[in-house]
Amino acid sequence: SEEFWGTEPRRLINKYYSKHHDVVTDRFTIDTGIHTEAICRCWKSKKFPFCDNSHKYHNKFHKDNVGPLIIDGNTF
Ligand code: FES
Repeated sequence: SEEFWGTEPRRLINKYYSKHHDVVTDRFTIDTGIHTEAICRCWKSKKFPFCDNSHKYHNKFHKDNVGPLIIDGNTF
């Protein structure tokens, strides 16, 4: 089951433990006009801070389920 971590600003990115999901991603929309970007949260990306899917290797060999933070930029 999911466990809520609290509402402190530094905890808003990872709100829940989600061990029943294969990969945990969170998605935000920010009105900055930037393109959609996947931000690495496993610290293994060779294109850090951007996700290069290295989390798949990390998850497989460390039995983890970390995934990227997806930021959708509004381009209107
Ligand atoms: Fe780190 Fe995808 S490479 S989250």
